[in-house]
Amino acid sequence: MELNGVHASPVSDNALQILQERYLLKDLLDNCLESPGEMFMRVAKWVAKAEEKWGDLSLVKKWTMEFNNAMVSLKFLPNSPTLMNAGRKKGQLSACFVLPVEDSLPDIFSTLKLMAMIQQKGGGTGFNFSHLRPEKANLKNTGGWASGPIGFMKIFDAASGQIKQAGRRRGANMGILDIDHPDIELFISCKRNFTSLKNFNISVGVTDKFMLAVERKKDWFLTHPQSHEIVKTVNASDLWRNIAQNAWDCGDPGVVFLDTINRQNPLLSLGKIEATNPCGEVPLLPFEACNLGSINLSKFVSRKKVDWEALMKMVHLAIRFLDDIIEVNYYLQSEVKDISLANRKIGLGVMGWADMLVKLNIPYDSNEAVELASQIMKFIRDNSREASTNLAKERGCFPNWPKSNHFPHRPLRNATLNSIAPTGSISIIADTSSSIEPFFALAFQRKNVLNNHSLISINNQFLDFLYENQYPVTEILEKVLANGSTQDVKILPPEIRRIYKISEEISPEWHLKHQAAFQKYIDNAVSKTINLPESSTVEEVEKTFFHAWKLQTKGITIFRNVKGMKKVIEKGITV
Ligand code: CDP
Repeated sequence: MELNGVHASPVSDNALQILQERYLLKDLLDNCLESPGEMFMRVAKWVAKAEEKWGDLSLVKKWTMEFNNAMVSLKFLPNSPTLMNAGRKKGQLSACFVLPVEDSLPDIFSTLKLMAMIQQKGGGTGFNFSHLRPEKANLKNTGGWASGPIGFMKIFDAASGQIKQAGRRRGANMGILDIDHPDIELFISCKRNFTSLKNFNISVGVTDKFMLAVERKKDWFLTHPQSHEIVKTVNASDLWRNIAQNAWDCGDPGVVFLDTINRQNPLLSLGKIEATNPCGEVPLLPFEACNLGSINLSKFVSRKKVDWEALMKMVHLAIRFLDDIIEVNYYLQSEVKDISLANRKIGLGVMGWADMLVKLNIPYDSNEAVELASQIMKFIRDNSREASTNLAKERGCFPNWPKSNHFPHRPLRNATLNSIAPTGSISIIADTSSSIEPFFALAFQRKNVLNNHSLISINNQFLDFLYENQYPVTEILEKVLANGSTQDVKILPPEIRRIYKISEEISPEWHLKHQAAFQKYIDNAVSKTINLPESSTVEEVEKTFFHAWKLQTKGITIFRNVKGMKKVIEKGITV
C-alpha cells in the first residue's frame, strides 16, 4: 500500500497490478514484455496508423505522440480491449456488441459461436431473446417442445463462463426480453437464486404503451412472437410490481425503455434497436460494434475551476482517436465489419466525476453538481459533434449518413458519439472514481475475480487531505476501511463528511438526477447503478423505475444495499 499517492510509474500500484495481470504483453512463461508506458505507446502507434489512410504521412508521428500523451497522463483511456489488443494479431478493439437471436436452432447456435469468439477477444455481447418462441411451445420439425428464451440463455451463460474472455476477464452479456413475451414472468425472476445466469445482466424491454397501461392499471397481453396470438392476459401494474419486487430482492432485472431508445435511434430506417451491450450504455442494431473511450474529468480542474479549454482539446483528440480505431480494428465476421464501418458508432464518455466534484468542493447530492453535470456533458456533446463534423469534411460522412436522421443538416463522421460506460477497469488504471458514480467507498479491499487476490484501495484525495491537515491517518483509515464511509468519523468536520459521502449514502433521487443530467446530452446511453438503502421498499423501487421513464433515461438498474450481500462487487462484472 502506498500512502502518499506519489508514483514514479505513470500508474498507481493497484493499476500496475491489474495491468501486469491482464493488459501487458507477455511471453509464454507469463513474463511481462512491456511496461505500462510501453503499452500506451503500443496503443498510440497502432491507432495512429489509421492516419496514414487520410493523407499526410508526416502527421502520423504527431498523432502518435498526442494519443500517447493523452493516455500516459491518464486524461483519456480507450476501453479495455483496445489497451489489451492494439498491435496484436487480429486485435479486436471494441468492447460492445449486439447480436441477433432468431427463432431457429442453426441461427441460435451461429450467434452462440460468434458470441464465443467475440468474448474470447475481450468484447461484451447483448441480445434480445424475444423472437424465440416461448418455453413448451410446439416444435414443428420434431414434434417436441421448445426450450424458450431462458433455456437458451442458460446455454449462452455456460459458454461465457468457460471462455472467460481470453483468460483476462469474465464474459459479460446483456439479456433482454420484451414485456409482451409469454415467458416474461419466468424471465423476471430467473436470477432470483443468485446462482443462475451469473454472466448475464438482465433487463426487461418495456414500451411507452406498457408504461401507460401501468399508469392506468390496464390489462396487458402476452403474445406469441410468431403467431401474435394472445397467450395470456395479465394486469400491467401487477407485472410492473413483479419487476420491482425482483429488483428489490436481487438487483435484477433492470429495465430498458425501448421507445425512448428508438426516438433517438439515428438509423431507424435500418431497423428498431432491440438490445444494448452488457452494461447498457450502447443501444445497437444487430451485429453492430462500438468503441468506447473515457475522459478523466478529475484531470480537468485547475485552481478549483473546470479547465474548459483543455477539456475541449481533449474531446477533439478523443473523437479522432475513436474514429481511427474503427480503421485499425479487427472484425471477426463480415456482418459485424460491414455494419460497423457503415455506421461508425463511437461512445466518448467520462470517468472521475466524483473526484472532480471533490476537487471543486461540490457535494454529489447538490443542485450545483447536477447543473454542472449538464453543463459538462453539453460541452462534451457539442465539441464531439464539431470534431466529428470536422472529420467528416476530411474523411467523408459515415456511409449510412444519407439514411440517418442527421441527413442532410449535420454532416458527421460517426452515427453516434457519446456514451457513459462503467469504466470498471479503466478507472482503476486511471486511478480515479469510476464513471459518473459517487465513490463506492473511500477505502476498501477490491477482490480480483480471476485470482481471488485482494487489493486495498484508498481514495487519493481523501488521503492527501488527511495528511495535509495532520489528522491521525492510520486511526481514521482503520475506521473507514470497516465500511468505506466517513460518516461515523466524528473527528472530521461535517462539511468534509458531506463532500466525501459514498454511494450508499447518496439518496436514489440524486443518483437518478445525475443519470438524467448526463443522459440529456448523450445520443447513446448511460450506465449507472441507482443505490437504494436496505430499508427501501418495493414501492420505492417501482417509483424510481417509473421516474426514470419520465426523465427519459434509456434504462435503469438498481442496487439495494443488503448487508452481507455486497452485491456491487459480485455483480461488478467489470472489475
Ligand atoms: O473499464 P473497461 O473499459 O474495462 O470496461 P467498462 O467501461 O467497465 O465496460 C464497458 C463495456 O465493456 C461493457 O458495457 C461491456 O460491453 C464490456 N465489458 C465486457 O465485455 N466484459 C467485462 N468483464 C467488462 C466490460
